[in-house]
Parts: sequence; structure tokens; C-alpha cells
Amino acid sequence: MSRAGPSPDAGRLTDPELYQGGDPFALYAALRRESPVAWVESTGEHGGFWAVTTHPEVSAIGADPEGFCSSRGILVDEIGTTYDSPPTMMHTDPPQHTRYRRLVQPGFKPSMVRLMEAGVAAKARGLIDAIVPGEAVDIVPVLSVPFPLLVICELLGVDGTLWPRFYEWSEAVIPGESERSAEDRARLQVEMWEYLIGVADERRVAPADDLVSVLATAGGSGGDQLSEAELAMFLIQLLVAGNETTRNLLSGGLAALSEHPAQWAAMRGDRTLVPAAVEELLRWTTPVISFMRTATRPSILRGQDIAEGDPVLLVYASANRDEDVFGDDADRLRIERHPNPHVSFGFGPHFCLGAALARLEARIVLDQLLDRFGGVEPAGTVERTPSSVIAGIRHAPLVFSR
Ligand code: HEM
Repeated sequence: MSRAGPSPDAGRLTDPELYQGGDPFALYAALRRESPVAWVESTGEHGGFWAVTTHPEVSAIGADPEGFCSSRGILVDEIGTTYDSPPTMMHTDPPQHTRYRRLVQPGFKPSMVRLMEAGVAAKARGLIDAIVPGEAVDIVPVLSVPFPLLVICELLGVDGTLWPRFYEWSEAVIPGESERSAEDRARLQVEMWEYLIGVADERRVAPADDLVSVLATAGGSGGDQLSEAELAMFLIQLLVAGNETTRNLLSGGLAALSEHPAQWAAMRGDRTLVPAAVEELLRWTTPVISFMRTATRPSILRGQDIAEGDPVLLVYASANRDEDVFGDDADRLRIERHPNPHVSFGFGPHFCLGAALARLEARIVLDQLLDRFGGVEPAGTVERTPSSVIAGIRHAPLVFSR
């Protein structure tokens, strides 16, 4: 196989400090310009991977599950790993993936999401009540952590007071997210599995108006139900996928707005800008920095020979700043941006199932904050996590004014 020589900078894509420092964008721009499909040599057991940083290629690969599969891992850390059964539906390909989507999509249809609107708004209100104008607040623990978890409790139809438990469980699933021992994490995962399967068993007997009931009874009596393991896999994925992502959209989005006071003022003056602002904040924060695929056949991408079996990293955060798609101001936050074809929810058959819900959550939070506060400013330094997968924010001190 022919490969370009190692790009001088692409190796930094896996450097945690790049993300903790908060500015991987200069590197992305250099890669898009000089080496949009760059081979990243690895020091680990696997040989390396291709990093794809331009929007057309990221979208094309996402849309082509036959040429670039998900079942051989979606994270760089998974290169070389094989699974007896897929850990999430994100790790599946057609026809298995098509079946999962068919079974679970009814739980996410717009009418289901609309049903949740009043409950989501009430949860936001309860948390935003704690924000005092003129006083510094770390928005992460006060709003961004509890809010998506409370919404997930509602989505699953379980008691909202359980959210701290859900938080602990969800952190235990993600390697490196907590300082717990492997045994402790394993124990929490068993606890989570037993709890969620218990809820599903109850709903199978007495279905309610919630997602667990939709999933527990999916396929009806037609013999195509989700097995217990599949159901648990899916519920755990929801807990994790719908939580960290939305959390960082809110923290990162509000931190960005605190640095762009004119844009806050523009939204206060014209609330019809809020939906476009949500899209721009999704583009700007790109909560999932990248996911991976594996080439199932040889191909050529931007002049590079991709071999069967090569891992290919889709760098969504770079595609979202591609000047060929977003223009000369791709590096500017512009809440009225239209069109805004960001790839923050991925692209193709794995397009985020929770996108409508995440958009609803962000819109409701923005609307309620705009109702109450004339402005928002930074009140300290934003602290980021060292993850190259999730654009995580640990602390975001802000101050809202009347
Ligand atoms: C700002 C918030 C969110 C972002 C940025 C986000 C991002 C993503 C991305 C990039 C994918 C594509 C995975 C791939 O291509 O391999 C994805 C898939 C998925 N997301 Fe989200 N997500 C968000 C919120 C949510 C929420 C709220 C839920 C559910 C409660 C959710 C559930 C899922 C599921 C189930 C999948 C897998 C879909 C499939 O494999 O077909 N996400 N998400």
C-alpha cells in the first residue's frame, strides 16, 4: 500500500494537551490546507490511522457504511479490538444496524420529543432558578451536568431524583472519566445493567408513555423484539450518549456566548434567531470531536491510497471549520449563520438519534436564560478536559446580569 510520509503535525491529534489547551483549530486548519487525509503513525500496538479533516470527505465516509464500517470500532482506542457482541448500536453496520434503527426510531420521532417539551422546560426552570444575577456561577455543576440527566430520567420514565446515580453510572462506562478502580467501575456497570433491565421488565408488563416502554415492546409480537442484552446495550448507550454530549454543548455554548456579548444582545432583540444560534453553537463546540471507521476495501481519498482494514478518523471538529464549506468566516461565531451544514451529529445512517431532543434542550435553555438575563460574561477561566473524543468542559465560571 502507498502512504504519504508522516505528516509533521497530525500526530498531535491524539495529544490530550491539545484539547485541554482549548485550541486545536490552528492544527486542523494546517491539516485541511496541507494534508486533509493524513496518516497518523501510532506508538501503540496498532499501526496508526488516517485523519480526515475536510467536510466533503468526512460526510462522504459517514454516508458510506459499506466502504467504511463501524463494527471494527469507532474510537482510536478500539483499533484492533474485536467484540463478541456490539457494545453500542454505533458499533454496528447494515443489516444489523438497519434493524436497530427500525426498532428504536419510533421512540425518537418528533411527536415523542414534542411530548417531552413541557417537562424539559420545567427541569430547565428549576435549575436556572438557582442562578443569581451579578454572582459568578460555574455553569457546569449548576446546569450542564444535571439538566441532560434529568431529561434522560424523564425519557426513560424513571424518578428524576435518581440523576446523581445515573451520573455515576454513566461516568463509570467511559474509561478515564472517573478516578474509580476497575472493580468499582465494573460493579457500577452491573448495578446500572440490573436497574435498567428491571425498569424494562416492569414496562413490558405495564407499558407507559416513555422510551423504555417503546423499546421494551418494540417489534410487538412479530418475533423481532430486542433481546435482553440488546435492550440493556441500548439503554446504557442512551444514558451515556445523551448526557456528556449535551452537557458540553451547553457549557461550551454558554462560555462562547459570554465572549460574544453582541450575539447575546442580538438574540435578546430577536428570539427567532435562537434555533439558528443552537445550530451555530453545535458547530462551534462540536461536542463529539471525532469518531472512527475502518475501510472495508481499497479506495483513494484526496490522492491517498486507503487500504482495506485501515482505520479512518472523521474529525468532525475540523470539518465544522472547513472554509470551503463555511466560507471565510468559518472561524467566527455567527449565530445567524445560514445555511449551517455542520456535522456535529455525524452524517449518514448513524446520524444522531437524539438530535431533535438535544436541539430542544439547547433551545429551551437559551430561551429561558434570555428571558431572565440581559447579558452573560466570563467570570474566570474555562477548564477543559484532556479528551480527544469529547470536547469536555470541567468548569465554566460565568456571570449573568439582569
Ligand atoms: C449535543 C448533543 C449530541 C451530540 C453532539 C451527539 C452526537 C452524536 C454523533 C456524532 C453520533 C454519530 C455516531 C457515529 O456516526 O458513529 C451520534 C449518534 C447517536 N446519538 Fe447522539 N449526540 C447528542 C445527543 C444525543 C442524545 C440527547 C441522545 C439520546 C438521548 C443521543 C443518542 C444517540 C444514539 C442512540 C446514537 C447512535 C445512532 C446510530 O448508531 O444509529 N445523542 N450522536
